Amino acid sequence: MSHFLKPPLERIPPSIVCAADYEAPARERIEKGVWAYLNGAAADSLTLAENLTAFRRLRLVPRVLAELEGGHTGVELFGTRLAHPLLVAPVALQKLAHPDGEIATAMAASALGGAMVVSMEASTKIEDIAAAAPGPLWFQLHILPDREFTLALVRRAEEAGCRALVVTVDAPVSGVRNDEQRAGFVRPSSVAPVNLEGMKPLPPHIAAPGESAIFSSPLAAAAPGWAEIAWLLSNTRLPVLLKGILHPADAARAVEAGAAGIVVSNHGGRTLDTLPATIEALPAVVRAVAGRVPVLMDGGIRRGTDVLKALALGAKAVMIGRPVIHALAAAGAPGVAHLLHMLRAELEVSMALTGCRRLEDATEALLWRDAQA
Ligand SMILES: Cc1cc2nc3c(=O)[nH]c(=O)nc-3n(C[C@H](O)[C@H](O)[C@H](O)COP(=O)(O)O)c2cc1C
Repeated sequence: MSHFLKPPLERIPPSIVCAADYEAPARERIEKGVWAYLNGAAADSLTLAENLTAFRRLRLVPRVLAELEGGHTGVELFGTRLAHPLLVAPVALQKLAHPDGEIATAMAASALGGAMVVSMEASTKIEDIAAAAPGPLWFQLHILPDREFTLALVRRAEEAGCRALVVTVDAPVSGVRNDEQRAGFVRPSSVAPVNLEGMKPLPPHIAAPGESAIFSSPLAAAAPGWAEIAWLLSNTRLPVLLKGILHPADAARAVEAGAAGIVVSNHGGRTLDTLPATIEALPAVVRAVAGRVPVLMDGGIRRGTDVLKALALGAKAVMIGRPVIHALAAAGAPGVAHLLHMLRAELEVSMALTGCRRLEDATEALLWRDAQA
């Protein structure tokens, strides 16, 4: 039996006017276990909630009668010009959301002049995604216990034309996924992380009573450290970003190690619960990085105003996770294109009403502080 409860929408109803409007039609289409995987978070979902509410707590300062002519949302990242700063975050197994999976997302991102970060755990081969969409792709990976396989994947990503590597560093082990456990999530056999075919599996580890399931496992023994980041950097010419940093000291170390960029992220609240919101962690990371490399962020972006707030606090661009999956599940490629279009249009409205013609005009001065009242 398929995990899809209904076919995707044939046309986008006029009642869908913002990112959040895609959640209900997505949920209606997906069996509850798979939905818990796609939309859920770790433990009590506190970090997921914080990511959203922290944006809502921030207020913008309007500026009037500003010169707007010639404004735009363009940004350059690692030598690629993008029409807007909204990247599609790496999300695994997108065929769980829609039969067209990553191809639909890549086509939409490409059509809207943006970039997509393809997950190492994509349900479509990186070569096939690259062949289907002309737009810029980045490749997200974990440094796997099978280092040889990791390097082979990097070569495949390079040959497919990916323009940057994003190493996820905040998930050496899976989070406590109670939502998935309660809903009984089992990955349907029809959807698989096909880019990982051929990887040497870790030996199975069954902890003896009294033995640690994590610390005594082969996974812990093979977990990457800073030495593996240096190893990867010495084995690729692509810019390497580290994704999943919240602490300014880790950000500074990443830059010193040679990272080309930082993604401030708490994995959308899916790894360790009770972490702070990413928008709250962003300013200290931006200070520690001190302009040496671009800082991106993700987690909780649902509105153009959220994007502007992230830029005001020093992000060069943002990544969007769950909203893309909602739009994909509800309406496939046209849904994702519509979502990105709406977010970009909202960003433009927010820029115009705060007197920003360019993304670089967004500074901390855009945020209303109580002292201003
Ligand atoms: C279903 C799902 C799968 C994800 N898979 C990955 C992944 O394979 N690699 C990764 O680095 N992050 C993964 N993430 C995290 C996202 O890249 C991103 O950090 C997060 O979703 C941003 O928060 P948002 O969903 O509030 O936008 C996943 C997120 C979701 C919701």
